[in-house]
Amino acid sequence: MAVKPVLVMAPIRGVTDAVYRDAWARSFGGFARAVAPFIQLRQGQPLRPGELRQVSPGNNSSLITVPQVLTHHALTFAAALRELHAAGHTEVNWNLGCPYPMVAKRGRGAGLLPHTDRLDAILAQVLADAPVRLSVKLRLGYRDPDEVLAVLAVLNRYPLTEVILHPRTATQMYGGDVDLARAAQALAVCRHPFIYNGDITSLEGFNERRRQLPGVAAWMVGRGALAWPFLPALLQGEVLPSAETRRQRLREFHDRLVAGYAEWLSGPRHRLDKLKEQWGYLALAFADPRQALTRIQRSDTLNAYEDAVAWAFDQALRSDPTDGTAQRR
Ligand SMILES: Cc1cc2nc3c(=O)[nH]c(=O)nc-3n(C[C@H](O)[C@H](O)[C@H](O)COP(=O)(O)O)c2cc1C
Repeated sequence: MAVKPVLVMAPIRGVTDAVYRDAWARSFGGFARAVAPFIQLRQGQPLRPGELRQVSPGNNSSLITVPQVLTHHALTFAAALRELHAAGHTEVNWNLGCPYPMVAKRGRGAGLLPHTDRLDAILAQVLADAPVRLSVKLRLGYRDPDEVLAVLAVLNRYPLTEVILHPRTATQMYGGDVDLARAAQALAVCRHPFIYNGDITSLEGFNERRRQLPGVAAWMVGRGALAWPFLPALLQGEVLPSAETRRQRLREFHDRLVAGYAEWLSGPRHRLDKLKEQWGYLALAFADPRQALTRIQRSDTLNAYEDAVAWAFDQALRSDPTDGTAQRR
């Protein structure tokens, strides 16, 4: 496969924040752009300064980042697009995939998928004079995987930049198989550039998916890349760096997270908690993730944390993405 695939970093709330995206782009590469984790809009309220700061183009210069919003309220949506435009954005992504009951049961995220009339009305109102371009990220449906076809019939009528599909229903959450047959059906009827997303965790699996879904414009990768950061470059045809280089890159990445959170977060406790949280995925790059994670989680000061990190980096790394433990969900 001679043409290099375009890869997009998936939004993973709590993980792929501005510090993480910047550290990633500088340490590993492989992604052309990212979609940021969702900003949950509050009806009639402006965006918070911290939310704008996370996605501002100035803070995301190393990896182009499209902000994502979660809402089912057209006026609030339109106001947020104006705010994001004023902050320098030219594109915004609309989350139609969030499966969490707190969100979906209230008709947001994947909760909107069964209601194509509402979806249509929101798009008509918001896109009537939107100052930015819009893309959407969705699942196959809330409960029924055929909902995607009715949803696409609506989306096809609007000028969207792209449609990102994660071919699971909301009730599946992140488990069970992705439905490639329905992804192919969706791709065939979608009039917008189509981005596939879901369970890309190895080069072999990816190549198989490229064969099954010809015509996909780009590929969004989340957990597979977070668990093994060398994956995106490998998917792009690059040679896997040596074990020593991989160790150095991981360490650099980690140290950039430390420096980034020192700048972004106030107070050692806050920084320590955030770093420990990031080890949920970072540890998966090690041959024995549980061992590394246990030591890290036990540290209760930044000094103890640094010692645990030094210990972890003396341990063996995983040699490829399929070797070792199941991914964290
Ligand atoms: C912990 C977690 C947080 C997520 N946060 C978001 C989010 O903020 N916005 C979104 O569109 N998708 C979110 N997702 C879904 C991912 O972007 C992606 O669609 C999903 O993980 C499937 O892709 P993957 O198998 O490559 O990880 C989240 C997934 C997980 C596991």
